[in-house]
Amino acid sequence: MKKFEIKVPVDVASFDELSEMEQRLVVMAREATHRSYAPYSHFCVGAAILLDGEQIVTGSNQENVAYPSGTCAERTACFYAHAQYPDSRFKMIVIAARGTDGEFVENPVAPCGACRQALLEYETLAGHDVKVILCGKDKFYILPSVKSLLPLAFVEF
Ligand code: THU
Repeated sequence: MKKFEIKVPVDVASFDELSEMEQRLVVMAREATHRSYAPYSHFCVGAAILLDGEQIVTGSNQENVAYPSGTCAERTACFYAHAQYPDSRFKMIVIAARGTDGEFVENPVAPCGACRQALLEYETLAGHDVKVILCGKDKFYILPSVKSLLPLAFVEF
């Protein structure tokens, strides 16, 4: 039997260590949490996507009384981005969240499996890595790509 390991490189940064554009996206993802519709979970997530034309698209989680009909912030943002700018490609996505106490979460928030799969589609379409930044209150995880968040992903066969 053979074995291989999958390693995920994660840079941990403070806000000051982020570039100007990264900081801008963090602010926008955090602002987007205030447009979240989360009357059931009270967990407000925001995402900001930078496109290669330098447009920035944001999204937030939108819940529904029929729970599975709601959608996460990341999918709101990525579907909206591609619906609005089908010719642009993704460069970076930043994700932030506020917990049930209304405060930004202490530890960086990570996208659910379904969102990872959805985002991977747009990374594949871009033909290059799409940087991912996960926001905690004072700590930011920087991942080089969506695929680093979804090892052994399902791809078209
Ligand atoms: N949620 C997101 O928006 N993104 C994620 O990656 C994880 C979870 C939302 C879904 C639901 O509205 C709320 O957070 C609680 O799970």
